[in-house]
Amino acid sequence: MRQSSLVVIANRLPLDDSAAPDGACEWRRSPGGLASALHAILEQTPATWVGWAGGVGPAPTLPDIGSLRLRPVSLTEEELRGYYEGFANSTLWPLYHDAVQQPTFDRGWWETYRTVNRRFAEAAAQVAEPGAAVWVQDYHLQLVPAMLRELRPDVLIGFFMHVPFPPPELYMQLPRRVELLRGMLGADLVGFQREQAAHNVAQLAKKLLGAVTTRDTITFDDRTVRTGAFPVSIDVTEMRALATRPDVVSQAKQLRHNLGQPKRVLLSVDRLDWTKGIEHRLTAYSELLRDGYVKVRDTVMVQVAVPSRERVESYRGLRDRIEGEVGRINGEFGRVGEPAIHYLNQPFARSQLAALYQTADVMVVTPLRDGMNLVAKEFVAAREDGSGALVLSEFAGAAAELEQAFLVNPHDVDGLKDTLLRAMEADSSDLTARMTAMRRHIAEHDIIAWARAYLRALDHTGRLADRLPRTAPSARRRPPRQRSAR
Ligand code: ADP
Ligand code: G6P
Repeated sequence: MRQSSLVVIANRLPLDDSAAPDGACEWRRSPGGLASALHAILEQTPATWVGWAGGVGPAPTLPDIGSLRLRPVSLTEEELRGYYEGFANSTLWPLYHDAVQQPTFDRGWWETYRTVNRRFAEAAAQVAEPGAAVWVQDYHLQLVPAMLRELRPDVLIGFFMHVPFPPPELYMQLPRRVELLRGMLGADLVGFQREQAAHNVAQLAKKLLGAVTTRDTITFDDRTVRTGAFPVSIDVTEMRALATRPDVVSQAKQLRHNLGQPKRVLLSVDRLDWTKGIEHRLTAYSELLRDGYVKVRDTVMVQVAVPSRERVESYRGLRDRIEGEVGRINGEFGRVGEPAIHYLNQPFARSQLAALYQTADVMVVTPLRDGMNLVAKEFVAAREDGSGALVLSEFAGAAAELEQAFLVNPHDVDGLKDTLLRAMEADSSDLTARMTAMRRHIAEHDIIAWARAYLRALDHTGRLADRLPRTAPSARRRPPRQRSAR
């Protein structure tokens, strides 16, 4: 068994589980913030990524990607249901996102969640060199830090939560709240997107574990765990390079032409998830059309909603509702050859996303709750000429950094309508000033800066951070397309 001095564990590996016709499987960045973020930093780093390769049954043998090794973890059909679709995405995900959808507490799922967390911990224990650093990611694997500490007391353990961590009143609903808290606090450093999340965890540790806390430490059972906020980001260099590529620039022009050269293009790009506020947004847009503030010939809305977690009932229901509503809006307000909304339920290549970002006049990012929202940052990075408006939910982690966006409470449909109109009507000097400030911020706070800050806080020495590239890999070369036999 080959071992690494840096091991990252995340539920998902960055690859497509759908076999190509020739039986090969294709590498790509799966849609979703975590895979986007980690792919960018790990692609050129000597490390091992432990994760699920998608699908069920025995884990496939996977080749290295450059200096990154992949260690797949298998799931059975029953585990997929109880662990991934069940406890992770039907209990924790809704609860952690302010319960915007009612969480399901099914007692049968807990054992499976624990079994699968143990499998991830064992896989990491096998591939970690003596004294290695192991960086555990996200809510799927909240028990792994404590399990790993038992198996491998010699390793340094980091945990990063990509999603929000809820206020104590909500967290307290969780039937297994103590085990989950203890699991996460098995790490040496627990990182969050926002300061508030670290504060929530400290409150809970005091209440549930009798811990003693400071602003950035939690002490219980004779151990001190450090906590902190490390807002995740994007590969800014990659998006800027894509956005200036001549073929992408002409693709963006072509898109605008295909949309009928409207005065304004509104764009949203989301995983099809009920946290993203797509329904509220459609209601706002439809009322603007109804009340005559927006005319179909002048203004076009493009909603990209990439399929996500489609076997989970609540996601299927959401898709049906959204597709029904898009149909209704187009039926009522569209004209022949001029739909009010262009709805695209498909994955896109990064270059296609970059072209879409450039086509938009107003980017509408209005989640009801979101840990960060990388789409907002990608849009900003793609606007090389400083034009374009960003309408951004106050409930996205990104709002704390992109303060110059048109911030909005997406639950308030009237407020959303007003903000959309303000963004559509803003003058170009105002937009340029806002965009310039946001671009400056993300240029200084890109994905490499995020990973370096986290790893420096984890080992104190800077040795871990030094293993990362100083600039994002995409600045140095275009990533190869890798194919491997299944
Ligand atoms: P989440 O992590 O909840 O999915 P984020 O906005 O943080 O939300 O991250 C979404 C990521 O998925 C972004 O990097 C975005 O570019 C990518 N993405 C979104 N839609 C698509 C799509 N249709 N095809 C490919 N990638 C997508
Ligand atoms: C969010 C989560 C990630 C997850 C991604 C896509 O970004 O924080 O952990 O990978 O959504 O969801 P999926 O269920 O397809 O992995």
